[in-house]
Order: sequence, then structure tokens, then C-alpha cells
Amino acid sequence: MTQLFGRNADRKLRRGAALVVVLAVSVLLFGYFRVRSDSYWHVGIAREQPVPFNHKLHVQGLKMECGYCHTGATSMAGAGMPSAQNCLTCHSEIWRGVPALEPLHTSAELGTPIPWNSVIWFPDHARFHHGSHIAAGVACSTCHGDVGAMTETSAAVRLTMDFCVDCHEDAMAETGARGSAVTALPAAAFLQRKGSASPAAEGMDPPASHQDGRSLTDCSVCHY
Ligand code: HEC
Ligand code: HEC
Ligand code: HEC
Ligand code: HEC
Ligand code: HEC
Repeated sequence: MTQLFGRNADRKLRRGAALVVVLAVSVLLFGYFRVRSDSYWHVGIAREQPVPFNHKLHVQGLKMECGYCHTGATSMAGAGMPSAQNCLTCHSEIWRGVPALEPLHTSAELGTPIPWNSVIWFPDHARFHHGSHIAAGVACSTCHGDVGAMTETSAAVRLTMDFCVDCHEDAMAETGARGSAVTALPAAAFLQRKGSASPAAEGMDPPASHQDGRSLTDCSVCHY
């Protein structure tokens, strides 16, 4: 009878199978650590901007509040980016005729938004709402680092699921209602323990907190 498989076939098959397993595990491990790496979250990576904006000069130097330029941050899902008008309030006088500010005048004349390049990476399958967090007293710096001290803007925090869920678990535990609905968050006490700056310190006027009855750790709170 003719031999269907060579004498080494069994050994080769085992080796092949072992290789597949090792490869699969490597890919999974690589994925796991990659998602937790700074580069994946663009931490510390600044991008070229249409106008070389400097947070430190405007926030620390001129004492401007975040909400002056990111007008949605206290109430909307998106914090929003400044329009040319936000800047020209001052720059129609200050630094008039400086070429670096030319895109502001072009945007204002054409009525088009300034094409700022985002330095934050966040997946489409996760949901976020700025207003709810500011209302609960969470400081901008918790998720964005000390932006007011940056001369070039970059991400400072990895916005991973663990990062989000850890705080949501604490928030549930804090109210003694883990796993059930949070009705009223004792924001001040909670944030004191978390060591965040008070919203007032960031120039924010917190609106009333709101909840729709779901636990903050419920998957559907953050996923569509
Ligand atoms: C409240 C007034 C005010 C607003 C609003 C404002 N700026 Fe400024 N900006 C200033 C002042 C003051 C300076 C410093 C000028 C100097 O030192 O000569 C400055 C400096 C700058 C510079 C020079 C930066 C540097 O490193 O020297 C740029 C670029 C700039 N602003 C861009 C912007 C942009 C873009 C906006 C809107 C998002 C904006 N500014 C909004 C007041 C303002
Ligand atoms: C004078 C206007 C102005 C003020 C005040 C200001 N920002 Fe900004 N912010 C900008 C501009 C312009 C950009 C886009 C250019 C850049 O990334 O530097 C930006 C970008 C950002 C980004 C990155 C957004 C993205 O998608 O890349 C974050 C986060 C941010 N700002 C947070 C803050 C915080 C927190 C404060 C208060 C401490 C603040 N900003 C105050 C104008 C402002
Ligand atoms: C609990 C975490 C958290 C806090 C607190 C927070 N942010 Fe954000 N911010 C995010 C996330 C997540 C994104 C990305 C959202 C997305 O891409 O859908 C983001 C995006 C942004 C952006 C990009 C533009 C946009 O419209 O979303 C700006 C600007 C910004 N935040 C500013 C602020 C400012 C200013 C504050 C404080 C008033 C603040 N953030 C507080 C998590 C936070
Ligand atoms: C420092 C604590 C903290 C961190 C970090 C945090 N959250 Fe929250 N989050 C809260 C609190 C407190 C509430 C409840 C706010 C309220 O009562 O309306 C909340 C509410 C929410 C809601 C419900 C909003 C609504 O109005 O229905 C979503 C969605 C959410 N968070 C997503 C996220 C995501 C995504 C991240 C990570 C990028 C994150 N959170 C990080 C504290 C945090
Ligand atoms: C507080 C917000 C929040 C809650 C609650 C939450 N997630 Fe996530 N989840 C995120 C964010 C943000 C990401 C993207 C960041 C990342 O990839 O780590 C994510 C990523 C994921 C991913 C993609 C895989 C990964 O790690 O990148 C899966 C799958 C997932 N979540 C499933 C779940 C399930 C199942 C639940 C309920 C048990 C849940 N999530 C609850 C915020 C949340």
C-alpha cells in the first residue's frame, strides 16, 4: 500500500499546530499591551496646527478659562473647538498682521471653521459626554492632564476602558449604591477623595447632575 503521509507528517503537524497557538497568543498579547501603550493613545505626541496655539500663554499667562474656547465642555457631549471669532476678539488688535495668525482672518472671512488637528484618540464604539462629568465635578485635568501648562498640546492620559470604569466603580461605591442607580452624587466629597481640583478652580459653574437610572458600570452607559 502506498503511504499517504510521510513518516514525519505527524511531527510536522504537531509543530505546525504549536506554531499556530504561539502566534495566536502573541497576537493577543501584542494587542493587549498595545492598547495600554502611550503611543496607541498618542500620549505626548503634539501635532502641527494651522495656528501655533500656546495653552500656557493663554491659560496660565492671561488667566483665560477653558470654557471660553471650549464652549461645549460644561454642558454638551463634545467640548468643542474655538472659532476664529473666539481668537479675533483679542487678535484683531494684538499681533495684527502677523503671518502666523493669517488662517484666523481667512476663516473669519470665509466663515469656515479652523481645521485644528486633534491630538486625542478615542474609539468610535465608546460614548463620552463632557457635560455629565463637569456637572459631577470631574476636573478637565483628570482626563487631559495639565493642559494649561502646555506650550504644545498633546494627550496626557490613556483613556482606556479600565481608566473609565475604575472611576465609575468608585463613584458607585462612594454613594453606597454599587450595582444600582446613583441618584444624587455627593460630588464634592467624592472628588476630594479622588484629589481632583474643584470645578470652581477650573472656572466652571457646575450645572445640576443628572442620571437616567442605569448603573454607571453598565456596558450600555459607554457602548452603543
Ligand atoms: C483674551 C485675549 C486673547 C484671546 C481670546 C486669544 N489670544 Fe492669543 N494672545 C493674546 C496675547 C495677549 C498674546 C501675547 C502677545 C505677546 O506676548 O506679544 C497672545 C499670543 C498669541 C500667539 C503667539 C504665541 C507665542 O507663543 O508667542 C498666538 C499664535 C496666539 N495668541 C493664537 C491665538 C489663538 C489661535 C486664539 C484663539 C483660539 C487666541 N490666540 C486667543 C491674547 C489672546
Ligand atoms: C484661548 C483659547 C483656548 C483656551 C482658553 C483653552 N484652549 Fe484648549 N485648545 C485651544 C485650541 C486653539 C486648540 C487646538 C490647538 C492645539 O491643540 O493646541 C485646543 C486644544 C485642546 C485640547 C485637544 C483637543 C483635541 O482634540 O486635540 C484639549 C484637551 C484642550 N484644548 C483642553 C483645554 C483645557 C483643559 C483648557 C483649560 C485649562 C483649555 N483647553 C483652554 C484653545 C483654547
Ligand atoms: C472624564 C474624562 C474627561 C474630562 C473630565 C474632560 N474630558 Fe475632554 N475629552 C474626553 C474624551 C474621552 C474625549 C474624546 C471624545 C471623543 O472623541 O468622542 C475628549 C475630548 C475633548 C476635546 C476635543 C474636542 C471635542 O469636542 O471633544 C476637547 C477640546 C476637550 N476634551 C476639552 C475638555 C475640557 C476643557 C474639559 C474640562 C472642562 C474636559 N475636556 C474634561 C474626556 C474628558
Ligand atoms: C474621575 C471619575 C470619572 C472618570 C475618570 C470617568 N467618569 Fe464617566 N462619569 C463619572 C461620574 C461621577 C458620572 C455620573 C455623572 C452624573 O451623575 O450625571 C459619569 C457619567 C458617565 C456617563 C453617563 C453620562 C450620561 O449623562 O448619561 C458616561 C457615558 C461616561 N461617564 C463615560 C465615561 C468614559 C467613556 C470615561 C473614560 C474616557 C469616563 N466616563 C471616565 C465619573 C468619571
Ligand atoms: C465607563 C465606560 C465604560 C463602561 C461602563 C464599559 N466600557 Fe467597554 N470600553 C470603554 C472604552 C473607553 C473603551 C475603549 C478603550 C480601550 O480600548 O481600552 C472600551 C472598549 C471595550 C471593548 C473593546 C476591546 C478593548 O479592550 O479595546 C470591549 C469588547 C468592551 N469595551 C466591552 C465592554 C463590556 C462587555 C462592558 C460591560 C461589562 C463594558 N465594555 C463597559 C468604556 C467602557
